[in-house]
Amino acid sequence: MPRRGAFVVIEGLDRSGKSTQASNLIQRLDDAQIPSKLIKFPDRSTPIGKLIDSYLRSETEVDDHAIHLLFSANRWELASSIVKDLEAGITVLCDRYAFSGIAFSASKVAPSDAPKPVVAEGSSIAPTHQTAPPLLPYSWCRSPDVSLPAPDLTVFLDILPEIASKRAGYGNERYENQEHQERVRELFSRISEEVEAEGVGRWVVLDGGLELKEVEEAIWREVREAVREGVEGELGGVKRLWD
Ligand code: TMP
Ligand code: MG
Repeated sequence: MPRRGAFVVIEGLDRSGKSTQASNLIQRLDDAQIPSKLIKFPDRSTPIGKLIDSYLRSETEVDDHAIHLLFSANRWELASSIVKDLEAGITVLCDRYAFSGIAFSASKVAPSDAPKPVVAEGSSIAPTHQTAPPLLPYSWCRSPDVSLPAPDLTVFLDILPEIASKRAGYGNERYENQEHQERVRELFSRISEEVEAEGVGRWVVLDGGLELKEVEEAIWREVREAVREGVEGELGGVKRLWD
């Protein structure tokens, strides 16, 4: 059985605390003298990443299909170096991955010009965004990431969109609005079921609304276990999405 580094992904809604946790985690891996590397998607430093950055800041308009493919291409740019690092025994920690790609794109709906219906508080009538048809089919959103290296562990920091929306800096970028984030959260739940059904590594949901330290400890327990499995050869070779 090959020994290798663990491929760990942190996912969640915007402002769920991923980036803070990722940098704390990399520090702990460092302190424990576990060779590790932190990467982040979108990687805004590459030419493709710069275009994505401009799109997210609403400085550029890009067709929804095209931007989806660019997000995926931005991962493919790093795919072979991820595998190389894992095989060299380096634990790769990744802040967002293909699951964000699917969740954020498949949750897009056509902007509605129609005025919103008035729904009384406490009413069970579904709000409009739940009935609007998706702009991009789910299976189409999934396909460009097929064959990317598969994570061994995905930690999903779950937070209610309403709580995330109150955190500092929220609303600066495209997608940072509660209606979209609600749909993204539903999509993540569907993705987690598929990850489990298809055995694409482990998917762990942690409460991102807890105290920072508590979340950090919970992540650390999961990651330490994945690292151990890698060192002891239990992870096997690097798998691919969605083998
Ligand atoms: P960030 O806030 O982690 O930098 O991510 C930027 C935004 O891009 C965030 O709203 C999630 C979204 N996104 C996608 O739409 N597709 C993707 O493939 C990725 C990685 C992120
Ligand atoms: Mg963001």
